[in-house]
Amino acid sequence: MKPAILVTREVFDDVLAYLGEHFAVESNQGDTPFTPDQLAQRLAGKAGALTTLSDRVDAALLARCPELKAVCNIAVGFNNFDLAACTAAGVMATNTPGVLDDSTADFVWALILATARRVSESERTLRAGQWTGWKLKQFLGTDVHHATLGILGMGRIGQKVARRALGFDMRVLYHNRNRLPHEQEQALNATYVSQDELFARSDILSIHTPYAPDTHHLIGAAEFARMKPGAIFIHASRGGVVDDAALVEALRSGRLAGAGLDVYEGEPNLNRDLLGFENVVLTPHIASSSEATRRSMAMLAARNLVAALAGETPPNLLNPTVRALRP
Ligand code: DGY
Repeated sequence: MKPAILVTREVFDDVLAYLGEHFAVESNQGDTPFTPDQLAQRLAGKAGALTTLSDRVDAALLARCPELKAVCNIAVGFNNFDLAACTAAGVMATNTPGVLDDSTADFVWALILATARRVSESERTLRAGQWTGWKLKQFLGTDVHHATLGILGMGRIGQKVARRALGFDMRVLYHNRNRLPHEQEQALNATYVSQDELFARSDILSIHTPYAPDTHHLIGAAEFARMKPGAIFIHASRGGVVDDAALVEALRSGRLAGAGLDVYEGEPNLNRDLLGFENVVLTPHIASSSEATRRSMAMLAARNLVAALAGETPPNLLNPTVRALRP
């Protein structure tokens, strides 16, 4: 008998076919997110699950799913997991690091350029039939080339963003929990500074920290007040790292020239005030969403699940101290 698993959201057909070779698969190709209660009901009797950031896996859920052995997120972020609860319950948890770095960094650059050069705003004007012809002072933007790019969080994605800045002749400053080795700093032409200095000196600041209790509202009113007047703020990491109400105030006060945002607190119910700013580019959490990358993420999650339920160590195990598979 093949072990039973749940795929909580729509995935690509080849991923379902691959999973079907190993498991009895219950899928949700209709893609309506499960409520916590529905998720617990669907997971009853399942040995594993392919999950996404809309599925909260915590002690309450795990207590209702005693047969569960592995939860494999289709995402590099895993703040939807209570990792300690998974470990205590003997449930392996995995994510999908690496495969989305380039696509996400590309998209961060799309936000940087669209915000600095007012792409969305000017297109809205044109589409509304309000463009009356070329004008010298029309949609004057901020130059990206030769500007100072600040990166908060210099992990894999932050480094990919920095690498792309080389082509724009930018000065790159960064702050990170751990400083990069000297050779890596040299290769990226990146200078390590304190967080305060990063905020004070960046013309464009991009956030690349994961969301965890210690990064909740890492960027709030005090941090925005430290930013250079006229700076551009870019955020494509995870909602909750930024206090969106404080961001709204920083935009309202005119301190920021603009913002490019892909993630929000309480997604998809974003702070409605953000919709009122013409100088803010808003996208619906799609930074990793190229066809090839989303396929790779889903397939990597599936491979993690196959390995976990075969009794192997999955390639992207987040809780290696997990005591043992549940009987
Ligand atoms: C991730 O991988 O964490 C992304 O936010 C999901 O697209």
